[in-house]
Amino acid sequence: MTDSWATFGADLHLDPVGTGLRSGLREALREAVRSGRLTPGTRLPSSRALAADLGVARNTVADAYAELVAEGWLTARQGSGTRVARRSAPRRADPGADRARIGRPARSGPVHDLKPGSPDVSSFPRAAWLRAARRALTGAPDEAFGYGDARGRAELRTVLADYLARARGVYADPERIVVCSGFVHGLTLLGTVLRRRRVRAVAVESYGLDLHRGLLVGAGLRTPRLPLDGLGARTGELAALHGAGAALMTPAHQFPTGVPLHPDRRAAAVDWARSHAGLILEDDYDGEFRYDRQAVGALQGLDPERVVYLGTASKSLAPGLRLGWMVLPRALVAEVTEAKGYSNWTPGALEQLTLAEFIASGAYDRHVRSMRLRYRRRRDQLVAALAERAPGVEVSGIAAGLHAVLELPEGAERSVIQAAAFQGLALEGLSRFRHDDAPPGRDGLVIGYGSPSDSAWAGALDALCRVLP
Ligand SMILES: Cc1ncc(COP(=O)(O)O)c(C=O)c1O
Repeated sequence: MTDSWATFGADLHLDPVGTGLRSGLREALREAVRSGRLTPGTRLPSSRALAADLGVARNTVADAYAELVAEGWLTARQGSGTRVARRSAPRRADPGADRARIGRPARSGPVHDLKPGSPDVSSFPRAAWLRAARRALTGAPDEAFGYGDARGRAELRTVLADYLARARGVYADPERIVVCSGFVHGLTLLGTVLRRRRVRAVAVESYGLDLHRGLLVGAGLRTPRLPLDGLGARTGELAALHGAGAALMTPAHQFPTGVPLHPDRRAAAVDWARSHAGLILEDDYDGEFRYDRQAVGALQGLDPERVVYLGTASKSLAPGLRLGWMVLPRALVAEVTEAKGYSNWTPGALEQLTLAEFIASGAYDRHVRSMRLRYRRRRDQLVAALAERAPGVEVSGIAAGLHAVLELPEGAERSVIQAAAFQGLALEGLSRFRHDDAPPGRDGLVIGYGSPSDSAWAGALDALCRVLP
């Protein structure tokens, strides 16, 4: 065990209900000693260093240390600092027995999770999905159990074309749709095809998911950064990104900043693609969830031959389904289908037929509508709680989606995240989404208010307000 708190702080998970910072810290330290994570003799960081690391007052740490010294868990000697007491026997033998004794369930992760990325999976419409699956299986023709068309089941492509035209303004002919295992599968296939077409680089927004950029890099593509500002990606600068043959963008709701792409910027993106024989890869990951006004339609509608539309059921239903779709320019359909045929054919036919049934029966619309109301309520509660309990923290990117950006004072991001981890609340900082060579930006948090279950939401929100400056 080292002396650095940072090496074990993230492993400590506290129940913040009814605990203040000091008692939370005391309990976490006690548990770290009990469980053997902190071995006898280990020197703890100074109260000043730990307080700075956690973003709490020095007295809070000093008091917690003093109480644990008094209880015999720690020792404090002039000159040798605060250490784990030699006689404190770590509980290694049967952690299950101890847990049973203190009557608490084993905890394998944080108590609250407000990281962005996931919808509320506890609201997955199991009964409606099961009904759709039963109908799909009963009605599936024998040929559905063969290899079929690498683009995916025609039943699904047909209902998707109708749904995407109606709900997202996509120009969608079933013949141009390729079903894939979520966005990441679609992007992987596109990366392969673009490289085969001798494209060297795909521009990416300067804030985004490293996973997606990594997939493009893995396909052998460079990923120059497209800067962002308050109007979204600065698409007028695409022409200056030498060698970029495509651009990956989140026009309806930039991830993670939450800005919708300004209409002039949308036009500029399409103009660039037309004049440079380029492609826009449109990641429409949460387009269904828009709260304050009409949904922003897909960019693809402006030029279906220059924009690849990528959609997913990961936000609208659940990421575990691994169901996504691409609407391709006509010229790309054969190449992408071939790439998919050579790699993998997922998702399986029965999952595809179930989703087709689910959409055709109206269950998808009903689910999205009810989740939109629920997420909107949470969004409003988040904004109201911040106004009351953390009025200095500005919130943005809230018109759509399942996440919001909270601006923090300069230099506060790391300490807030650490203090939150300490209280069992998992948070993600804005800087985590800034691509390496993008210029330094604001300190902030990206709050995924969609992920908690309904029963966990109030506790998560309360825990958040408690760690904000
Ligand atoms: C920006 C963005 N794009 C796409 C996705 C969906 O990815 P997938 O369909 O692979 O689950 C997500 C999900 O978190 C996302 O945050």
